[in-house]
Amino acid sequence: MSTSLAWDERYAGGGFQFGEAPNLFLLSQAHRMRRGLRALAVGDGEGRNGVWLAEQGMEAMSVDWSGVGLAKAQALAVRRGVALSTVTADVARWTWPVAGFDVIAWIFVHLPPEDRALASAGALRALAPGGLLLLEAFTPAQEGRRSGGPKDPSLLWSRALVERHFAGLEVLELLEGTVALDEGPRHQGLAEVVRAVLRKP
Ligand SMILES: C[S@@+](CC[C@H](N)C(=O)[O-])C[C@H]1O[C@@H](n2cnc3c(N)ncnc32)[C@H](O)[C@@H]1O
Repeated sequence: MSTSLAWDERYAGGGFQFGEAPNLFLLSQAHRMRRGLRALAVGDGEGRNGVWLAEQGMEAMSVDWSGVGLAKAQALAVRRGVALSTVTADVARWTWPVAGFDVIAWIFVHLPPEDRALASAGALRALAPGGLLLLEAFTPAQEGRRSGGPKDPSLLWSRALVERHFAGLEVLELLEGTVALDEGPRHQGLAEVVRAVLRKP
């Protein structure tokens, strides 16, 4: 079972579990980023994506339930010379700031179905009009691959789940398929993912 303590333990070592570079899908969306926008990295762990969002000139925040991960995120931000605010919270129970963000990056955050519904509803509320949700997550086809992802299949995402949880958002891109991951020791090799770029009308 995934718990904040289990993630604290994973992050307690010296390295960065998913590397220090941003997620490649997020990087591919750099053309949509604008200085001054308010950006949130959901379940940002050791902060690679929140720090990158800050480096794009955005007002960046990372939320994660692992305080150990976020302490490393803060240190990474200092090392890179950018400002990053961090919030330690369970995203299924967090009070998401209404219309608080122009960009929400949801990268490899896999939650039990009830929590997934609560956090997705929170993210929907937290997007400002015109705001973008960028999501990458493992799908059931990932089972048997060794490139990462949760063991419990109920935590996995799919194109259909994205459509259900984020109904009402405009679809700019929504793809399910095979990609090559190269992100720290935990995400290496071919992987089965869903990638979404959605916009709040
Ligand atoms: C696979 S890691 C991905 C970390 C980061 N998004 C990245 O791509 O480098 C999943 C992250 O989600 C966080 N997480 C899982 N469930 C959570 C919850 N209910 N509330 C907040 N964070 C959660 C974990 O602590 C972990 O940092």
